[in-house]
Formats: sequence, structure tokens, C-alpha cells
Amino acid sequence: MPDGQELSQPPRPATAGASPMAGTLSGVGAEQPAVEFRNIDIAYGKFVAVRDFSLSIAKGSFVTLLGPSGCGKTTILRSIAGLVDISAGQIMIGGRRVDDVPIYKRNIGLVFQSYALFPHKSVFDNVAFGLKYRNVPKPEIRRKVGKALDMVRLPGSEKKLPSQLSGGQQQRIALARAIVFEPQVLLLDEPLSALDANMREEMRVEIKKIQKETGITAIFVTHDQEEALSMSDRIVVMNAGSAEQIGAPEEVYERPATAFVADFLGKANMLPGTVSRSDGPTTVKLASGQTVNVLSPLPLAQDSAVTVVVRPQKLSIGGASANRLPGRIVSASYLGGSAIYEVDIGGKTNIRANASIDGRVLSEGEAVELGFDPDGCVLLDEAGRRIS
Ligand SMILES: Nc1ncnc2c1ncn2[C@@H]1O[C@H](COP(=O)(O)OP(=O)(O)OP(=O)(O)O)[C@@H](O)[C@H]1O
Ligand SMILES: [Mg+2]
Repeated sequence: MPDGQELSQPPRPATAGASPMAGTLSGVGAEQPAVEFRNIDIAYGKFVAVRDFSLSIAKGSFVTLLGPSGCGKTTILRSIAGLVDISAGQIMIGGRRVDDVPIYKRNIGLVFQSYALFPHKSVFDNVAFGLKYRNVPKPEIRRKVGKALDMVRLPGSEKKLPSQLSGGQQQRIALARAIVFEPQVLLLDEPLSALDANMREEMRVEIKKIQKETGITAIFVTHDQEEALSMSDRIVVMNAGSAEQIGAPEEVYERPATAFVADFLGKANMLPGTVSRSDGPTTVKLASGQTVNVLSPLPLAQDSAVTVVVRPQKLSIGGASANRLPGRIVSASYLGGSAIYEVDIGGKTNIRANASIDGRVLSEGEAVELGFDPDGCVLLDEAGRRIS
């Protein structure tokens, strides 16, 4: 669905992108997006860290900014909180322009990578901080802190000090502190990256559950693609201060808009070639010598340069796929149930295939035939943009 997903399009009107996910929180009528960026730039001195960034975030949704280090993820979060000024464009929260609203007047919950708890304050005082600051009466503070601690599954921990808690527990307290005053938006900047792998997975589920239960709009930052794919309603793939693609996890994974997205989000096989036939079914002659059938809604010029992108999961070994690539196994890693094979298909081209194990793991040197169907690949043009 087009839905204004790609940012190469002109600026959208205010209501575009408000999705059905917006929920029914405030009754009838078209709901305002919870957060909207309209063509913002953010500069540190002369360095432009974020350029012409536009995004509309539906109320109650979970949106992830995903991208490599330095691409501007934290900078964008900081701009929502009012911690950094934008140099062009507008930011709207709940339909209101907030460019000139100071940080303390924005109703935003923040969770960072480092827990940033006050080390000498108790859990209660840490969580109560935002409420005291807002002059909430004491009995209500006690009730709300209790409820927030229940929610992060640390009930009764009010008197503990952060040093008496594990990393994961401290991060739960940081989360409780961020949600206790029922902010309009919850910002999470790599909140799981300091945790070990097991704890990270557990917290993924936990954060998602709390977000659903509270119906809070969450903006999550990570450079971990698995985290992004498993948690998000929508993913914004960022590259050098701009959004490359915005879409649902399956969409950005299955139909990457650019070579950058294909490469960053999971390991894709990128096979260069030239269009060898464009009347009727499109065929591409790969640099490695084989010819494959692909789908293209547009007629492509004969001999134009393209890249065929195939995910390792879309390749079968043996099987009856339309496209067959004979080759030899270079390496095999057993994953339990499936294996990752690296297969040399000639012409100095190695392909990664993630295939299920049929009887045994194939070994190095064995001859195999890789297969994929025309609808199992995406075609990019010479500039690295998706054609189909
Ligand atoms: N206070 C600052 N002064 C000058 N440049 C900055 C400042 N903060 C960030 N930058 C630069 O802006 C760019 C974007 O930084 P940002 O912290 O937003 O990246 P990020 O995507 O969050 O990266 P990471 O994944 O490493 O956290 C980087 O090139 C960074 O060096
Ligand atoms: Mg960052």
C-alpha cells in the first residue's frame, strides 16, 4: 500500500499517514497523529545531522528508528523532547506545534541506554520524580508509583536502591519512571543495548506488552534489526540523517526500497546483472553467468543494469523453483532445523542460503542447485532503487 511510505515523495498533508492503528482513544473523527515531523533539519553548528525528515506517527503505535551509528536516531528523539533545536521544518505533538515549547512543558517519557537512575535515591523516589516535579498530591504519588512498579513486574521494590538491582531490573525502573506520569509519548533510546542477550529478549516482550496495555505511543531507537522487526508496528530505516524507507516490518524486510535497506536489514544476496529480455517475462543475465526470471511491472530497457536482491530464506536447495543456480558449497553452519550455506555459483559470486535440513547438513565441496521464484526477489535499478 503506498500510504506515503517513501520519503522521496513531496511533503504530505497533515492527516496523511494516520493509520487505522490509531485506535479509538478519543472517539469520532479523524485523529491527529501523536507525533508528526514535517521536513525537519537539525544541525550541530555547520554539520547537518538530520535532513528533510518527515514522519507521521499514529496514536498508540510503536515506531522504531533503525539505522547505523551516527545516522541521526538520537538526534531525532532529542528533538521531540526539546533537547535539541530544529533548524527547519515543524514538529507537532498531538496536532500542536511544539517548536517553541520548552522541554519541561512537553509531556514526554524518556528511557535511555544507560539507566540514568539517581543512584542514591530509592526506587520509590526515582519513579516518583516526575510526579513530585508536577506537584501531584502524595497519596496519589504512592498509588501511581505502586501501579507503575506492578506494571514493570517489580512490585514492592520501593525501598531498594538501584545498586541492589540487576541491569534488567534497573531498566524496568527507568521504564516505570518514564510511564508513571502517563506521558503523551514514550521515547526509548536503545534501552536494551546494555543488557545481556537473554535479558534483552525478555525485555523486548515486556516493553511491547506494557506499550500495548497502556496504549502509549512509543518511539524506539535501535541499530538491532531483530529488535526492530520483532517489536514495531512501523520501522523507519535511516541512513545519514534521512529516512530511506518507512513501512511495516514485513514490508521493509521483504520489499526493501533501496540497496541500503536491503543490506542493512538482514543479509541480502545482491546479484548484479543486465536485463537480457524485457518483452514478456523479464529475464536478467547475472554477472555470474546464469539467467534468471524476475517480475517487473515496468518494461525495462534491454541491457540496463539491475541488481537482483534475494533473501537467504527465499533460496531453496534442490526443489522445483523457477530459477536454478547450480553451485558448490563453500561453508555450512548448522542452526538446528536449518543451516546457512555459502554457495559459490561461479563468476566469483557467493550466495547465502538459509535452507531447512533435509536428512543431513550438506558439507563443503558438495554440488547443489539453489532455487528461487520470480516473486521471491526484488529488482533494483542502477541507482539502487527498487523497480518493482
Ligand atoms: N552534540 C553534538 N555536537 C556535534 N555533533 C553531534 C552532536 N551530537 C551528535 N552529533 C553528530 O550528529 C550525527 C548524528 O548523531 P546521533 O547521536 O543522532 O546518531 P545515532 O544515530 O543516535 O547514532 P548511535 O547509534 O551511535 O547512537 C553524528 O554524526 C554525530 O557525530
Ligand atoms: Mg544514538
